[in-house]
Amino acid sequence: MSTVPGRGQPTPYTRGREDGPVRSICEVLAYRKIGAYHQLTIVAPDIAARATPGQFVSLAVEGGGTILRRPFSITGVSQHGPWAGTIDVVLDVVGPGTAWLAGRSKHDVVDVVGPLGRGFPLPRQPATCLLVGGGYGAAPLLYLAAQLQHRGHRVDLLFGAKTGERIFNAIEGKRQASSTRFTTEDGSFGTQGRVTDVLPDIATSTGAEAIYACGPMGMLAAVAAQARERRLPCQVSVEELMGCGVGVCNTCVVPYRRRDGLANVRACYEGPVLDAKRVVWEAIGTTAMAGEPVEQGDAS
Ligand SMILES: Cc1cc2nc3c(=O)[nH]c(=O)nc-3n(C[C@H](O)[C@H](O)[C@H](O)COP(=O)(O)OP(=O)(O)OC[C@H]3O[C@@H](n4cnc5c(N)ncnc54)[C@H](O)[C@@H]3O)c2cc1C
Ligand code: FES
Repeated sequence: MSTVPGRGQPTPYTRGREDGPVRSICEVLAYRKIGAYHQLTIVAPDIAARATPGQFVSLAVEGGGTILRRPFSITGVSQHGPWAGTIDVVLDVVGPGTAWLAGRSKHDVVDVVGPLGRGFPLPRQPATCLLVGGGYGAAPLLYLAAQLQHRGHRVDLLFGAKTGERIFNAIEGKRQASSTRFTTEDGSFGTQGRVTDVLPDIATSTGAEAIYACGPMGMLAAVAAQARERRLPCQVSVEELMGCGVGVCNTCVVPYRRRDGLANVRACYEGPVLDAKRVVWEAIGTTAMAGEPVEQGDAS
């Protein structure tokens, strides 16, 4: 059970979707420090059963200055063992909310809503997939790598960060992929530089047919440009600032070229995974698209 005994059943968070997000009061099963990051394994069978790679959960925090939940990518799920279903989330402590969560230990409870958003679409035919992660952006890509491998796709990983301790879980990465390459800006681990310095060579040597990326916006824009040059399909998971996390407040909009024209799409609802070639990268963080309608539905 994901719910702590006596705290009731998980409750649907949006109406009308049986596979939609639920809210659960969940027990922390394990805490682990991985380099600069903190990983929580949370007992949440109802969320584990619904989740797909690229989706996220929002966690309530205490003493975080604001009552807003904080969004975190799902790094992995397990549906085995006595707990029937757990999810992993990885935290980089950047403020009061992440500090509070990183202070949780085994048997503490956390209030979780998920899975939220739209995950990574998987190739229909066997494909060679290059997964590019920056910092904790590598976290959802490990979950994706496991699922791609399980379905018979080839997976190559390229993870970068400022320093070696901010490369997320290199050991697990090596287990999940046919090849791995790491870059750090200070040269303390792997090749000195950025992921985009080595991406063209790796895409050529592996014969990449699709790129999946998650990380800071600047990195995603650069990866998207390289994918476009090589005419490779590219899906990016954007980590925009979020308010409600469920498509109501429009805090998280991203300028996007839909088939029917330009629109602001909500990273929490139509995303966080978006087609890189449709994101209007040059308008992100500007008011260029302000006033464009925010529309319901998928981001096609
Ligand atoms: C879809 C999604 C997935 C995410 N996955 C992860 C994850 O796997 N691991 C992880 O550590 N963090 C992740 N984040 C970012 C995380 O939600 C924020 O770092 C967190 O909410 C900060 O809360 P805080 O109270 O600690 O800090 P705050 O005081 O709220 O913020 C501290 C600093 O972090 C910046 N910040 C806040 N939210 C974001 C954001 N969404 N993107 C970039 N910068 C932000 C603020 O601008 C500020 O400079 C994700 C965000 C999104 C939208
Ligand atoms: S965070 Fe409210 S609409 Fe996306």
